[in-house]
Amino acid sequence: MTVQTVRVQLERSGYDIVVGGGLISSIGQRVRGVISERASRAFVVVDSGVPRAHVKGLVESVEGAGLRAHVEVITPSESVKSLESYGRLLAGIAGTNHGRMDPVISLGGGIVCDLAGFVAASYRRGVPVVQCPSTLLAMVDASVGGKTGVNLTLGTGGVMKNLVGAFHQPSLVCADVGLLDSLEGRHRRSGLSECIKHAWICRSVGHESLRGWMDENLDSICGFDPAIIEELVARNVALKASVVARDEHESPEAIAGGRMLLNFGHTFGHAIETLEGVSPDGDPGNAPLHHGEAVALGMVAACRCAQALGRCPPSIGDSLCEMLTRVGLPWRVSGLVSTDEIIERMGHDKKAVGSTIRLVLPTGEGCCEIVDDASAESVQAGIESIRG
Ligand SMILES: NC(=O)c1ccc[n+]([C@@H]2O[C@H](COP(=O)([O-])OP(=O)(O)OC[C@H]3O[C@@H](n4cnc5c(N)ncnc54)[C@H](O)[C@@H]3O)[C@@H](O)[C@H]2O)c1
Ligand SMILES: [Zn+2]
Repeated sequence: MTVQTVRVQLERSGYDIVVGGGLISSIGQRVRGVISERASRAFVVVDSGVPRAHVKGLVESVEGAGLRAHVEVITPSESVKSLESYGRLLAGIAGTNHGRMDPVISLGGGIVCDLAGFVAASYRRGVPVVQCPSTLLAMVDASVGGKTGVNLTLGTGGVMKNLVGAFHQPSLVCADVGLLDSLEGRHRRSGLSECIKHAWICRSVGHESLRGWMDENLDSICGFDPAIIEELVARNVALKASVVARDEHESPEAIAGGRMLLNFGHTFGHAIETLEGVSPDGDPGNAPLHHGEAVALGMVAACRCAQALGRCPPSIGDSLCEMLTRVGLPWRVSGLVSTDEIIERMGHDKKAVGSTIRLVLPTGEGCCEIVDDASAESVQAGIESIRG
């Protein structure tokens, strides 16, 4: 199998994202290549969903490279992405006498990436982290760019997504696409949602070919053809890497082409992601929504909001719904709370600026803009459009 390397070149540092099949078996040497030779241990945070053979392969490779591995297993859910789990992991790493040069290694989906990354960002004020994403979503998005953190549960019981965290860039990202063989369909589709997000902003960030390439290859992408999925991951991390390189810390001033654009669909999406009882297909057994499903709905709401403002033709939302349908992602759901409550929850999203809600809205094919002054009516129209 081929191996593709995408470089994230930051102002003062940089790191590689390696994409290919079977990479986990050589992870030890790869980690060695990016850490101090004085490192002697590794704190490995593993997702319980990753098949045992891969975990064994990673641990053997890490130990073969002279790093004593301590393994912690996390069974991921949004409620596990919490300060409590973070505290437990910190206690775990402290208990191993993990030094400042020793790496944290994650092997898992976005939740494990975010948790392990936050432990690495804060333990001893920062130790190296190597991200080995094991879901499509984590490969194309969560493992790249250095955003780490946990959700916060408020006294009222509400959950605020990713409210506490830190920017902490990895030393290496190793995306072994062979790990995706065991990923179930719903999680595959959830990852495709972030790829569609990239396709809907691609022209604003200098990657105009992504949308056309995804359109042309959509059948093979949906069929999870291994060679196409490897190419999909490489193209998507290249887009994210270039955005992160230009705007590492999501500066509010970096409006054009900045990191904020990656939040397309997320302000609407985060407001509905943690709603109890809402499922992609109306079956309560499938509630709550997965992150990528909420983002899919959030992107549709953003398109219809822009349309109501007269800033975007209806065809952009129509073609989005068409692609979501082909992929098997929802663009409308039942059981949402009132529109006022969703707007209230959107106001709590971190992207809210003062009392206004900052939105990423499409203007045309592959193009988005940041809008601070969307009218209440347009936001309502966006939300109403995804009500099933
Ligand atoms: N930090 C960022 O920049 C960023 C970006 C996007 C999303 N996120 C976060 O990522 C999270 C979502 O990530 P996700 O979609 O990967 O969900 P997830 O972490 O919950 O993983 C999804 C499921 O797949 C299982 N799994 C993982 N690897 C597997 C494998 N190889 N085979 C079979 N099953 C496997 C997990 O056990 C879990 O049940 C959200 O919390 C979101 O906020 C972060
Ligand atoms: Zn996302």
